[in-house]
Amino acid sequence: MARVVLGMLGLGTVGTGVVELLARHRHLTLKKVAVKSLDKDRSAMPNCPLTTDVDEIINDAEIEVLVEVMGGENPTVGYLERAIKKRKHIVTANKEVLAKHGPRLFALAKEHGVAIFFEASVAGGVPLLSTIHKGLEANEIESIMGILNGTTNFILSNMETGKSYADALKEAQDLGFAEDDPTADVDGFDVAYKLSVLSALGFGYFVRPDTIYKEGIRNITEEDMALAKEFGYRIKLLGTAAKGGSNGNQGFDVRVHPTLVPVTHPLASVSGANNGILVRGHAVGQLTLIGPGAGKLPTASAVVGDLMNLAGALKLPDFASYFQPTIEASPASAAPPDHWKCPFYLRLVVKDTPGVIGKLGTIFGAHNISIATIIQRGAEGREATVVILTHDVLGKDMNSALAELKKCDFLSSLGNAIRIFRSA
Ligand code: HSE
Repeated sequence: MARVVLGMLGLGTVGTGVVELLARHRHLTLKKVAVKSLDKDRSAMPNCPLTTDVDEIINDAEIEVLVEVMGGENPTVGYLERAIKKRKHIVTANKEVLAKHGPRLFALAKEHGVAIFFEASVAGGVPLLSTIHKGLEANEIESIMGILNGTTNFILSNMETGKSYADALKEAQDLGFAEDDPTADVDGFDVAYKLSVLSALGFGYFVRPDTIYKEGIRNITEEDMALAKEFGYRIKLLGTAAKGGSNGNQGFDVRVHPTLVPVTHPLASVSGANNGILVRGHAVGQLTLIGPGAGKLPTASAVVGDLMNLAGALKLPDFASYFQPTIEASPASAAPPDHWKCPFYLRLVVKDTPGVIGKLGTIFGAHNISIATIIQRGAEGREATVVILTHDVLGKDMNSALAELKKCDFLSSLGNAIRIFRSA
């Protein structure tokens, strides 16, 4: 195989995995790696010089491919732009940069005749993007949904043993799954970026991440986990990207929120740091992909797979366009949540006084909400927990019902309102 010269930005967990895997593919020659600091202890040193000067890589004409595994939006996006202008192909794991700047980067790459490869940006080691882009090329993609964040799936799986969110998060941090600042994972940003990238591949539009509805897992309690189990569900953080919305809405239904998933559903069995994704195409029907969504070697597997694909095609004329999905020059916005329809799980803490259940029924009825199941617990004291499962409800109806409920004297606290799984 012809030698291909690479430069890499970043030598963290994924970068060291890439170095490790590249040792098996000598024709992929890593010439230089840019790092923030030369002082750090490194678990795997590449067989090439390190530098703190990114320009040494960007301006090196011999380097044909830039591997970007440093992450973050800035200054990374500027480095990628400059590398593309120097006609370097890009292999990146950076969903944030793609979600926020994808249309511009792909247009720039097209202008300069280079390709951007990004399998590692979503679902780590699961070959999700190549499946959608190439494997399902004959399909109109209708929806992509699933568990796209290993950290939160680890935390939620751990909470099923009775641990609190705080304890489960701490354990995830101690084991290196969660960052010291877990915001990107636990508040849904990471999934939103991934959904934007998936929308670009599946539907031809990056969806602006700031328009994607995001609800994270911070408010899930061990009580919610236990109640969900009692009713035959597991709580998962699900990301959904559907064309036209699940209810015939205009635009894209793109959202991330905790969801009660029936224990019999394939996504319910995705445990620990794994990802699980359902892809629906008009011809193929539904596929389920499950596997490691993060971690050193699984993510490096995606990066090096891209490099091998790229290296195999590099000497062919005009090969870049073969690898590039057709993506519109302007991003789309996600549809607002008002018109999504799904059942809800509600946990309410109420004063245990006569007529409360009747009042709840009246309020929900007035907002077009039909109750499927209702139970009351712990009524010995002055307060009781009421758990309600509803039939399908429009998001706007649930919001107006909850707003009215919050004004009622009998409500001590609105424990939680979590959506129940409904196929996209
Ligand atoms: N932090 C992500 C996760 C991995 O936990 O799935 C990188 O996207």
